[in-house]
Amino acid sequence: MKILVTGAGGMLGQALIPCLDSRGHEVIEFTKEHLDCTNYTLVRHTFNTEKPDLVMHCAAFTKVDQAEAETKLAYFINGYATENIAVCCSALNIPMVYISTDYVFDGEKGSPYSTFDDTNPISIYGKSKLAGEIAVNRHLNNYYIVRTSWLYGPNGKNFVDTIYNMAATGKPIRVVSDQFGSPTCTLSLSEALADLIETNRYGVYHASDEGVASWYDFAKEIVKDLNVEVTPIGTRDFPRPATRPKYSVLDKSTLNYTINREMPNWKDSLKIYLELRKVANQKFQKA
Ligand SMILES: NC(=O)c1ccc[n+]([C@@H]2O[C@H](COP(=O)([O-])OP(=O)(O)OC[C@H]3O[C@@H](n4cnc5c(N)ncnc54)[C@H](OP(=O)(O)O)[C@@H]3O)[C@@H](O)[C@H]2O)c1
Repeated sequence: MKILVTGAGGMLGQALIPCLDSRGHEVIEFTKEHLDCTNYTLVRHTFNTEKPDLVMHCAAFTKVDQAEAETKLAYFINGYATENIAVCCSALNIPMVYISTDYVFDGEKGSPYSTFDDTNPISIYGKSKLAGEIAVNRHLNNYYIVRTSWLYGPNGKNFVDTIYNMAATGKPIRVVSDQFGSPTCTLSLSEALADLIETNRYGVYHASDEGVASWYDFAKEIVKDLNVEVTPIGTRDFPRPATRPKYSVLDKSTLNYTINREMPNWKDSLKIYLELRKVANQKFQKA
């Protein structure tokens, strides 16, 4: 397929492009500089010129805390720009993949959220991403809405690197232990997305790495081999502008039935990422 990727400079975009490439797809990548998705005329012109077979919409406003103050911008990018993409996909009669988030849920359920559960976002980021889901659903029949969670991976500012760097500089590491979710590597998410688009089985999916962790559990696993201490704290000891769901684990049954396999366990994905990180650092030091 000829696949157009928006937000290609972002963390997921940069993992997805080589993955799609390795599956034999022709990938046309657009960073924000080359395709600002809030510009409808430009999006329409680009789609008409490139004539993709499918669009993977990875562009987003992802700064969860900043969204509370920059509400308009968050909705402009996550809602309006997503609608631009959906309208243009509809005009070309091609499918779209929209990456959404576990933050569309309020976190009160206490057990994994299925794709059939009601959404109820409690932050501007979550609300604006849900606005994107609604726009996709409004304009298209053939779409994949894929909700994921707690992403980290190469080429992006992420929790793993932050904790690792704190450990290396000897800074005290205090991490919230009363919010639970599933850390997910962009590399495993990319493989799942690549599998999914081959099915033509459109719909809403949950795709996160298997298993459950608190941010504290996640941090401890990151520094497991470094002999540093991680201190658990409560959400109330670490106030942030945006409220996070307490429990946003996703039930991936629909994805598993569709792609005929499970996602890897988050600890296994983390091990692979830490290994890649080590190799990249060694190369950097030698150069
Ligand atoms: N990160 C997570 O933990 C997480 C969890 C669940 C779901 N998700 C979803 O996963 C997707 C990918 O996230 P990510 O972690 O890869 O985020 P990311 O690294 O922030 O990538 C998003 C990219 O979109 C670009 N962008 C922003 N506004 C744009 C616009 N108007 N037009 C075109 N591009 C624009 C950003 O550029 P600038 O950086 O220059 O603004 C950035 O390169 C997003 O839909 C996000 O909501 C992420």
